Parts: sequence; C-alpha cells; structure tokens
Amino acid sequence: MMSQLDVNPSVDVNPSVDVDLSVDLAGLRLGMPTMTCSGTCGYALEYAEFTDLSKLGAFVTKSITLHERPGNQPQRIVETRAGMLNAIGLANVGLARFLDEKVPLLETMPCPVIVNVAGHSVDDYVKTTAGVAGIACVRGIELNVSCPNVSDGLTFGTNPKLLKELIREVKGSVPDKPLIVKLSPNVEDISVTAEAAIAGGANALSLVNTFTAMSIDIYKRKPRLANVTGGLSGPAIKPIALAMVNRVYRRVARDAGVPLVGMGGVQTWQDAIEFVLAGASAVAIGTALFIDPSTPERISEGVAEYCRKSGSKSLAELVGKLEIPG
Ligand SMILES: Cc1cc2nc3c(=O)[nH]c(=O)nc-3n(C[C@H](O)[C@H](O)[C@H](O)COP(=O)(O)O)c2cc1C
Repeated sequence: MMSQLDVNPSVDVNPSVDVDLSVDLAGLRLGMPTMTCSGTCGYALEYAEFTDLSKLGAFVTKSITLHERPGNQPQRIVETRAGMLNAIGLANVGLARFLDEKVPLLETMPCPVIVNVAGHSVDDYVKTTAGVAGIACVRGIELNVSCPNVSDGLTFGTNPKLLKELIREVKGSVPDKPLIVKLSPNVEDISVTAEAAIAGGANALSLVNTFTAMSIDIYKRKPRLANVTGGLSGPAIKPIALAMVNRVYRRVARDAGVPLVGMGGVQTWQDAIEFVLAGASAVAIGTALFIDPSTPERISEGVAEYCRKSGSKSLAELVGKLEIPG
C-alpha cells in the first residue's frame, strides 16, 4: 500500500537533496511557505507555548483597527460539520494598545510579522497602516477589506472602484513594504476585485476570507449566532477557495506578477500542494490551528517530502503548475 507521502513512486527519492521552500512574497522572503490566518492566533504570543514559531513562514496578527473594539455579542462561534462559523466582529485592542502592549512582544518573534489592518473608512485604514508600517519588526501589511461580521466590513471588498481607491491611498503610507490585500469570497467574480486591488497598487493578494453563512437552533427557532450570520471557515470551504485562487491566478495575478497567499480550509500538506498548483505562492492556516497548532510545521515537512519525491528542487517551481486539459 502507498504511504501518504508516496506521491510518485516512479521518481527516485534522494533525501540528501534539500528542497528550497522559501517564498518571495513581493520582496519579503519567507523561509517557509506557511503563514497563520489573521484572527486565529491573536498577537502571536498566545500561541507561542503551543508551537515553534520559528517554523512559520510568517505570523499574521489579528486585525487591528484605529480604535479598540469589543466585537459582537456572544454567541460568537458555532461549530459546523466541516468547519466553524465565527462572528467575532473584529474585537481587537486598537492601534494605541497594539503599539504599547503587543509590538514589544512581536519584536521578539523568530519569524516575519505581518500586521492585518481593518477599518471603516479610507481615513481609518490610512491612519492605522501609517501607525504600524514604520515599525521595524512589521515586515508587511495585510489589508482586511473582507470581514463579513461587521456592518460595513465588506464595503470596500465588494466594490471594485472603492477598493482601488482605498488601496491607492493606503499604499502611500506603506511605500517600501508589501501591501497584501485580503479578498472576500462573498462576491460574484473574485477576479474583478483582484484586478481592482492590483490596479490600486496591491503587491500581493491573500484569498479567501470567510463565507457569509448561518446556523439555526431549530428548537429555539433562533439563529445560533447573536449576529445572526457569521463567516464560515475550515475544510468545508477549501474546494471553493481553491477554485477562487485558480481563477485569480489565471485571470489576473500570473500576468501581473502578483503573488497569492491561498487560504481556506488548509489542514494538510496535500491541501497546501493543491493551492500551490492552483497558483498560490504560500498558504495560510486558520481553523486547523484550533485542532493542532503545529499544523503549519507539519505541512511544511509534508510539502518538502512531496517536492523531493516528485523531483522538484523548490516549491516555487510548482506554483501554478496545474495542467488543465485543453
Ligand atoms: C475565529 C476567526 C477569526 C477571524 N478573524 C479575522 C480577522 O480578524 N481578520 C481577517 O482578515 N480574517 C479573520 N478571519 C478569517 C481567517 O483569517 C481566514 O481567512 C479564514 O478563516 C479562512 O481560513 P481557514 O479556513 O484556514 O480558517 C478569522 C477567522 C476565524 C475562524
């Protein structure tokens, strides 16, 4: 019987040949292809005792907004059959406390730190980005324009014109670090918003955020989440996220030379390879961290073994190598 890692038994395995798993994320070099998904492991140190942070390609913080936010009322999390629904509502410490309390800890991180920024207006996004972009340990900004759990969370992410204008303004405050724009799957055609983000000056794209969804308690005849709807994540969304990465890669990102970070239900190294073949240069892991915080490390090991066994010297050479008949 084939083991999980026997991807291509006809290829000679030479374990002494090491594999280059590094990623060039719009000028930011990641040693590993795995990142964390914003909002699933706080500001890093909460997560430090459960896993070796030096094995991560990059750590992405919870979304930061200009002002502190308590988030939505509970119930804010509901488990689903193949994932979870969350309606946290961007609960976060706000820019001032982030700078005072979290940055000194982030300065000790053994991997690159990317700060995720959210906002209600162009001014909010610009001020928050400007507030963190100059910090030495902050190696990139991820712009969350795609939160489905706050009343105006999707305003920019679903409107290509507004999105392009927003990114143009924000890019001015972060001229020399990668600006990664996180796209919403809650749109008719994600390649349209991807194109707008690139036109506005995005250096990389991450996709996808969660899908608007709900769950009902049939005995109470009430929604399980106080916010009524929430964002669906985890294995349930992986095939849809994969199709979106493939679409964005082929329609816009490949020709524009803009790297993609694929996310949505990534749980195994096989998931990661699927995303890479579809066009992602790196993957991010969120919901799976709640089951096993060492998932990123396991994925990197499996990906390296896959590359060795399939005769690839680097992961980069597999990006977008999906063969589509015809
Ligand atoms: C509990 C929870 C909180 C989240 N908070 C944020 C957030 O603050 N900002 C953000 O951009 N995405 C947030 N997300 C979305 C994730 O970063 C990710 O895009 C999504 O969960 C898909 O990946 P996954 O299926 O691996 O979890 C959150 C997801 C979860 C499950």
